[in-house]
Amino acid sequence: MSVNKEIKKITTNTVQKMKSAGEKISMITAYDFSFARIFDAAGIDIILVGDSASNVMAGHETTLPITLDQMIYHAQSVVRGVERCLVVVDLPFGSYQGNSKEALNSAIRIMKETGGHAVKMEGGEEIVESVKRIISTGVPVMGHLGLTPQSIYKFGTYTVRAREDEEAQKLKRDALLLQEAGCFAIVLEKIPAALAKQVTESLHIPTIGIGGGPHCDGQVLVMHDMLGINTEFKPRFLRQYLNMHEQITGAVQRYIGDVKSGDFPNEKEQY
Ligand code: KIV
Repeated sequence: MSVNKEIKKITTNTVQKMKSAGEKISMITAYDFSFARIFDAAGIDIILVGDSASNVMAGHETTLPITLDQMIYHAQSVVRGVERCLVVVDLPFGSYQGNSKEALNSAIRIMKETGGHAVKMEGGEEIVESVKRIISTGVPVMGHLGLTPQSIYKFGTYTVRAREDEEAQKLKRDALLLQEAGCFAIVLEKIPAALAKQVTESLHIPTIGIGGGPHCDGQVLVMHDMLGINTEFKPRFLRQYLNMHEQITGAVQRYIGDVKSGDFPNEKEQY
């Protein structure tokens, strides 16, 4: 039997079953082949090719500038590194808000050109028609509520969303609408843990939290934040598992020192 046949691929059904079984879902962002390969082999359930690529890969202040073509490039690279986990790709700002036909065309480009398994879209009631149209063609959709970074200029701040009752009620309604529309999961970003708990308990599809507290069915972090590549961004919800910034700086400084001193390359490191 070939190795590939033994690999148990994670699908949208798998994550649904994980919720039913009470097994937490792990999700992390990735934007390139090499990291995707490491995360997949490490056993992650879902890789999100997030439009946070706009920030952490391209250095933009917001997620708004990244284009559909750029997301497709990142997703293609990630998919080439993955054997078993589910790959979800963000539809970027401006590629789906116009109308449901535009949304469908963007989702189809992602699926055809990248080999990704699902798309993610930010918003509730406003995008439900587009969500339904995409799902009707067989493309799985992950929703995203709470702090939706593509709307940062409407919010004006990255602080916790839905603390007030009116916004919390809308978020609960939106979550149910997205579930009815056929979403297979919903990201809940930066909302009070008690609200995330209520939403999670009201849905049969999984919720994936980022700053949504412990009651979500899964958690997602941006790889550059959890690996400590970024040093400036330290929100309360972040757990940093490595300090890669320090480790990489040290390694590169040792390399520079070895080059300058003539220690590198040595006799064994030449032909
Ligand atoms: O783009 C992204 O990385 C995201 C996560 C923050 C959920 O949408």
